[in-house]
Amino acid sequence: MAIPQSFLDELTARCPIEEVVADYVTLTAKGGNLWGLCPFHAEKTPSFSVSPDKHIFHCFGCGKGGGVIRFVMEMESLSFPEAVRKLAARAGLEMPEEDQEAQRRRAHRRRLLELNRAAARFYYETLKTPQGAPMLRYAQEKRRLTPAYIKRFGLGAAPDAWDSLIHAMAAQGYEKGELLEAGLAVAGKNGGVYDKFRNRLMLPVIDAAGDILGFTSRVMDDSAPKYLNTPETALFKKRGILYGINFAKLTKRGFLLLVEGNLDVITLHQAGIDNAVATMGTALTIDHARLIGRYTHDLVLCYDNDAAGVEATQRAMTVLRDTDFNVRVLQLPRRRTESGELVKQDPDDFIKFQGPAAFERLLAGSEDQTVYRLEVVAGKHDLTSNEGKVAYFKDIIPVLAGLPSAVEREIYAARVAKEVDISKESILHEVERHRKGQVRQARRKEERAALTPTANIQPKDRALRYENPRSARAEEGVIRLLFLDPTLLKLCGDLTPESFSVPLWGRLFGLIRDRGDEGISPAALDGELTAGESDWLARMLQEPQSLAEGRQAMADYMEIIRAEAAKRLGPAEDPVADLLAIQAKGKQKLEREDMK
Ligand code: GTP
Ligand code: MN
Repeated sequence: MAIPQSFLDELTARCPIEEVVADYVTLTAKGGNLWGLCPFHAEKTPSFSVSPDKHIFHCFGCGKGGGVIRFVMEMESLSFPEAVRKLAARAGLEMPEEDQEAQRRRAHRRRLLELNRAAARFYYETLKTPQGAPMLRYAQEKRRLTPAYIKRFGLGAAPDAWDSLIHAMAAQGYEKGELLEAGLAVAGKNGGVYDKFRNRLMLPVIDAAGDILGFTSRVMDDSAPKYLNTPETALFKKRGILYGINFAKLTKRGFLLLVEGNLDVITLHQAGIDNAVATMGTALTIDHARLIGRYTHDLVLCYDNDAAGVEATQRAMTVLRDTDFNVRVLQLPRRRTESGELVKQDPDDFIKFQGPAAFERLLAGSEDQTVYRLEVVAGKHDLTSNEGKVAYFKDIIPVLAGLPSAVEREIYAARVAKEVDISKESILHEVERHRKGQVRQARRKEERAALTPTANIQPKDRALRYENPRSARAEEGVIRLLFLDPTLLKLCGDLTPESFSVPLWGRLFGLIRDRGDEGISPAALDGELTAGESDWLARMLQEPQSLAEGRQAMADYMEIIRAEAAKRLGPAEDPVADLLAIQAKGKQKLEREDMK
């Protein structure tokens, strides 16, 4: 780690977690902990806790947790070093000199960002020259973008030539290697290098901090590819990019509107719908959801009204299902052309033909995901035939039964009743029958889980799943005790990180061991752990652990860990243990013999 441990210790001592959290969340004391409304998910009763003694926060609702630095990272969407810098400023501490490697990386990133900015300026300037005339005409006439919005989104023109950008950037001191690295140039077969983007309308892709990560670009005719993006580079990582977020994050609308096309975003902003964003032509990922979650948990999906759009909507909902996002779906109606044909429209078309006010009306009426789900199911059946209605009825009952509140079930049952000419009462009757079945199943599952109590306490993060719950519980106990009292380390004898079945606990054990009696604070670990690991650690530290019986508990935990490790790794190189193991094996063999 680049930042020295001693500095982190000093920093966390000067920034008590309860004080830092109180900058953002109103906290009330209750039973040794402080409680407030979780800033990471929407809730009405406090399940967000801060433990001043353990120096951690943990939300019992959404599972987020960690030390003071992790809190600032999550709260302000900062990286570890950025959060440290912010806390250092808060505490009036001078940052230590970064190590050379980190300094070099930062400088390199800055240099590539500056190159992207210089390129964007070059493309923008070109738009006003004769070389840029076709792109300007396309933007203004075909896409109806105003000069103000062309400027606001920094649109530009890549000339119809092989090396315009390379030359312009060389004049500013940028080398070919740097252009290659930024994805602005490509290497040819004969060792030559040429401009990646040629004869295209250029759209800089800007992140929330206002940095230009790369570009997307469009041809002005029907040639392919229609859109061309910066390839994946150190800066440009598509799975986390939301086009338009730099402006949309400032919206006062309280939600974000996710559309498919980059140019749709610009058209929407120009029409006053200033909360539109788009992915870079890819499916919505959990990384996108996290980025959106920094600003809002309300999202309206507005994908194209065709088979691909429906699929994209459903995929996005699957990604969002395990989050606490409130998702609505805006379906744009198809448009009848002059020849009477029905065609799909995207937001850009819709605004062109129906105008911004009509879009606002649709937005106000955008339906919640339940209606959308009902419609998707309805769409699969022919509701004009009796067979179709019966099949729809069968499909829709589980959807209705899955709605959490009786009021919702009643409302949507009424909707379905109208569609299929069946009384609302009989629909609700079926729904309740289905629910009873579900409850029975859930109870059976719970009973089974109660018989194997450790099996159901598993980390959310799949990468952390416990292979050996018995050992894992004991490992948790050891780590918890060592956080409470690092001097207990001397009881750990020959325990090594390898004895742990859970790599995370093994790693932590190694870190704590290396620190000796000083111990380690959760905050100091914030830089070592992923968000999922941090959540899991905070949840685990929250569990009660008494120091009064610390020695005995430690001995019990160690015995379990050793025994489970021996099963996994084979016996230790200890003659007595070996002997015991051989005897045990012999006994098993005998037992098997007996059974024959
Ligand atoms: P136009 O209105 O024709 O400019 O396009 P559109 O915005 O209506 O977009 P379309 O539905 O064709 O595509 C939506 C998004 O998918 C675009 O904004 C791009 O991000 C992406 N996309 C479309 N075509 C291509 C392509 O050929 N290559 C790449 N990389 N992405 C594309
Ligand atoms: Mn379009």
